[in-house]
Amino acid sequence: MCGIVGYLGEKNTKEILLSGLKELEYRGYDSAGIAVLQDDNFESYKAVGKLVNLEEKTKDFTTESFAVGIGHTRWATHGKPTELNAHPHLGESSYVVHNGIIENYAELKKQLQADGVTFLSQTDTEVIVHLFEKNLKDASSAFEAFEQTIQEIQGAYAILLVTKSEDKTIFFAKYGSPMLVGINAEGEKYFASSDTPLIGHCTDVNYFEDGDYGYVDAQSIALFDKEGRKKEPHFTKLSTNKLSAQKDGYRFFMEKEIYEQSNVITDTLLGRLCEEEVLFDELDTQLFDGIEEIKLCACGTSYHSALSASYMFERYSKIKTSVEIASEFRYRQPIMSKDTLFVVISQSGETADTLETLKMAKKAGLKTLVICNVDNSSMVRLADACILTRAGVEKGVASTKAFATQVTVFWMLSLYVAKLRDTLSQEELSRQIKLLREIPTSVKVEDAMHERIKRLSKRYLHGHGFFFIGRDLFFPLALEGALKLKEISYLHAEGYPSGEMKHGPIALADPELFTIALLPQHLLYEKSKSNVEELSARDSTICAISPLEFDKADDFIQTKKHNDYMLEFFEMMVVVQLLSLEISVRLGNDVDMPRNLAKSVTVE
Ligand code: G6P
Repeated sequence: MCGIVGYLGEKNTKEILLSGLKELEYRGYDSAGIAVLQDDNFESYKAVGKLVNLEEKTKDFTTESFAVGIGHTRWATHGKPTELNAHPHLGESSYVVHNGIIENYAELKKQLQADGVTFLSQTDTEVIVHLFEKNLKDASSAFEAFEQTIQEIQGAYAILLVTKSEDKTIFFAKYGSPMLVGINAEGEKYFASSDTPLIGHCTDVNYFEDGDYGYVDAQSIALFDKEGRKKEPHFTKLSTNKLSAQKDGYRFFMEKEIYEQSNVITDTLLGRLCEEEVLFDELDTQLFDGIEEIKLCACGTSYHSALSASYMFERYSKIKTSVEIASEFRYRQPIMSKDTLFVVISQSGETADTLETLKMAKKAGLKTLVICNVDNSSMVRLADACILTRAGVEKGVASTKAFATQVTVFWMLSLYVAKLRDTLSQEELSRQIKLLREIPTSVKVEDAMHERIKRLSKRYLHGHGFFFIGRDLFFPLALEGALKLKEISYLHAEGYPSGEMKHGPIALADPELFTIALLPQHLLYEKSKSNVEELSARDSTICAISPLEFDKADDFIQTKKHNDYMLEFFEMMVVVQLLSLEISVRLGNDVDMPRNLAKSVTVE
């Protein structure tokens, strides 16, 4: 989603804002802008498209002494990605940047227009700055006007506002969208939507809570809660370790992240396996007391890992498990009973729909657990318990290593619960733990395999659709493979259970229908094979992925032989990731920042 940065201090404000935006660009990249206020003088620049366009526009602009500045990188919600709709938005003498959605903007806009205000953009954000300026006319201070503005808007927001009427101050407010402020010994203040832009600049950070608002100047931070009561910021140390990902010689972040999977899964496993059991020091075993059911809730790729988890929890832990798409769950008035452990899964920990379901579960008194990649994210702070996936910063919008580590955590967790509930023999548990240790090897990308996929990819650049098919656990993997392909190739792809093809989709079969068939040796091989043969008999073009030779396919990608289908799962995951990557590369698409998408969706 959108990214926000802010800076108050003596350094080159433009450079700081742009380098902060660079760190956040993967969150949204259809336009970007900055506004810098120095000595009662505003300079503002906006550009459509990637950040390089803004860098080009601002190349002759610099500041050398004290200034305040705000910046934004956008993923359009209200209004097209044009320069006029790019943030910061201008009133008469103030600028605002905003992440989220102002739900009552239409009504506020109408009132403001009736008062004679002219709007330049189609965004919901622009109402904030006009409302502020309207309030400023009668208020005794800029802060009073800002406070009143926050009271009048509804929805989700992280807001930064700068104004000539208080030209050494940045006003801020947060509700539902993430934002933090960082400080250092030099008295500088930094704002951002996540902590990465602050690493290396700040020593301490305060993550704002919903309802927080206030202002900063060179001397202080004034913070208020949603009832308007003054509160003390709660500063914690910020890691000095720049986690920010670099491409390290790979063509794309996505490629690098696929290759990194072996290492990050090693991290995920670290300290959590001993010979006989899985250990999660971060979990209180009482979390599972009285639990009869697990409900998993997520969006996108995380939803697919949740689906794979449902097979493992039922098979290994013998516990009833259901999976929900967060945006559906929110509004369908679900029944929530207290013997259910509510688990949310999220790479970012900020996805608005998932976060809301977590709030619903907490409100209903359920025990909650989050599986997340970002420490200190909103979900991590809210849930009763948390398991971090340790995938490191994932920059490619199409998620790869985050998915791999989520499935790894779920495999471990299902064994952890199996031990608590005594549903697996010790022998089987130890066998599974041994297998877990083999995941890092199974996901290593071999040159020959990558080369083969590169070569094959040229045959899959057209057609009227792709079906990724698999059975059992390989059905969620098929869904994930199809999602990867559509995200970065813009070709239509669906994931389908192999056995379900004959109930409709097979009508589409012809040589221009591409079927990517997942055929693991150790899970329902014969049944899956028959399903693929049915498609082959109808002349669908088939690319089979299997360790066993399969002569009914047009193309065949042979995976290694493993002792268990879980390891076949991980190797095939890499194959479908690489296939999408190579198809996208051949089509000349932007692999890391595909059109219309955003890494973290903080609006519903
Ligand atoms: C966006 C991203 C997807 C991601 C989904 C859920 O749509 O583009 O890659 O899977 O959000 O994100 P989360 O951070 O909650 O896992």
